[in-house]
Amino acid sequence: MSAIPGRHVVVVGTQWGDEGKGKLVDWLTETATGVVRFQGGHNAGHTLVINGVKTALHLIPSGIMRDGVRCYIGNGVVLSAGKLLEEITGLEKARVEVRSRLRVSEGCPLILPFHAALDVAREVAKEKSGAAKIGTTGRGIGPAYEDKVARRALRVQDLKHPDRFERKLRELIAYYNAQLAMLHADQVDWSQVAWLKDQPLSAFVRGGSVDFEAVRQQALDHAKALLPMVADVSRELNEAHKAGGNLLFEGAQGTLLDIDHGTYPFVTSSNCVAGNAAAGSGVGPQLLSYVLGITKAYCTRVGGGPFPTELDWETPGTVGYHLSTVGAERGTTTGRARRCGWFDAALLKRSAQVNGLSGLCITKLDVLDGLKELQLCVGYLLDGERIDLLPLGADDIERCQPIYETLPGWSDSTVGVTRFDRLPQAAQSYLHRIEEVAGVPIHLVSTSPDRDHTILIQDPFQA
Ligand code: IMP
Repeated sequence: MSAIPGRHVVVVGTQWGDEGKGKLVDWLTETATGVVRFQGGHNAGHTLVINGVKTALHLIPSGIMRDGVRCYIGNGVVLSAGKLLEEITGLEKARVEVRSRLRVSEGCPLILPFHAALDVAREVAKEKSGAAKIGTTGRGIGPAYEDKVARRALRVQDLKHPDRFERKLRELIAYYNAQLAMLHADQVDWSQVAWLKDQPLSAFVRGGSVDFEAVRQQALDHAKALLPMVADVSRELNEAHKAGGNLLFEGAQGTLLDIDHGTYPFVTSSNCVAGNAAAGSGVGPQLLSYVLGITKAYCTRVGGGPFPTELDWETPGTVGYHLSTVGAERGTTTGRARRCGWFDAALLKRSAQVNGLSGLCITKLDVLDGLKELQLCVGYLLDGERIDLLPLGADDIERCQPIYETLPGWSDSTVGVTRFDRLPQAAQSYLHRIEEVAGVPIHLVSTSPDRDHTILIQDPFQA
């Protein structure tokens, strides 16, 4: 008799990333046999707190912290082998076994030093010309996806064949050197730009030109350690499904950073929405049984681009400052301060629509403790017209004036509460109003970074 096929949950961020997905993915892996990354690269960052110890992960799914759970990096991820190996070494120092449990797709496009160089050179050029910067993480994510779509990318599978790798690398470097010359990249101080830990980009880019030999040598060195983990991830996931394993697909960034559905052009270069879990890992969409939308109890964003409910978050004594400091809103990847603002339910409505959300997980509710009143954005005025859904693209969103409802705050602490009915009445009302406006039920609430501080209303794997 064959096993009952597994149930598979997709976890996505519903705002601009940094919603606290890492904690939830880690928590949900209690019932999962495998965790899959399907898009993005090391621009993502998850901070996990386990037994009071903080761990930051950028590429490896957070499921790695659970013994026995398999982790997969799907074809939709742009992969820096150096960053991956750096992360593995860090986990091994903390006595976490990684190499036998991690599988990397041979279809992943590679991120190499010149991708980061072009990413940085473009942002520098924008700054000099006075144009609006995207505020990228400088990790080379955009250029790597460009290569993929332009069909010139080096992929993980090319590392298996050094001759082929070198031939393609030579062509690619010629292309990048031409791009860098146009941007006057010889004026960038590469010694200030990190590539790997303790290694600046100046080891690979001298003046405005990429050093072929330095890149080749490092990539082939990395290949030796990477290739034993390389596999046909699509095949392994389909086999895990047939064997009855539950899989968790871990989205990176957030829906409003999605290349199609986000605040374009202030977005990342991949599809962050749930539908990409299938294409980015090599499973059919009918395998995905539930989509969980991770939603912070307020809004934050790093980098440039419109943010209708943004508050002044730099002046002590303001609500924005409270959110920024109590919420410790600094990026895991770049350390940049995150912009902070009120909850935007009309934005969440767009996220619910483009992801097909089954349920919500509200995170960082405790950060709102002590605020007298809360403002909830339920729609906007756009060119004098009232709308109830975030429009598409930055140009229209820039002109949106938020329409707020005022709700009472609460003074009691919600830290560590694990039952919904134990939350202050005002907190319960706030959450119910979010469900109503977004049209999606809340199935989980997180009340501190600790993995045990979670209210479970409906288990996504049982829904
Ligand atoms: P890129 O992904 O480095 O190209 O950056 C594009 C935009 O996405 C910038 O505004 C970044 O700050 C933002 N971004 C990329 N990754 C993350 C993330 O994991 N969390 C939040 N913002 C991100």
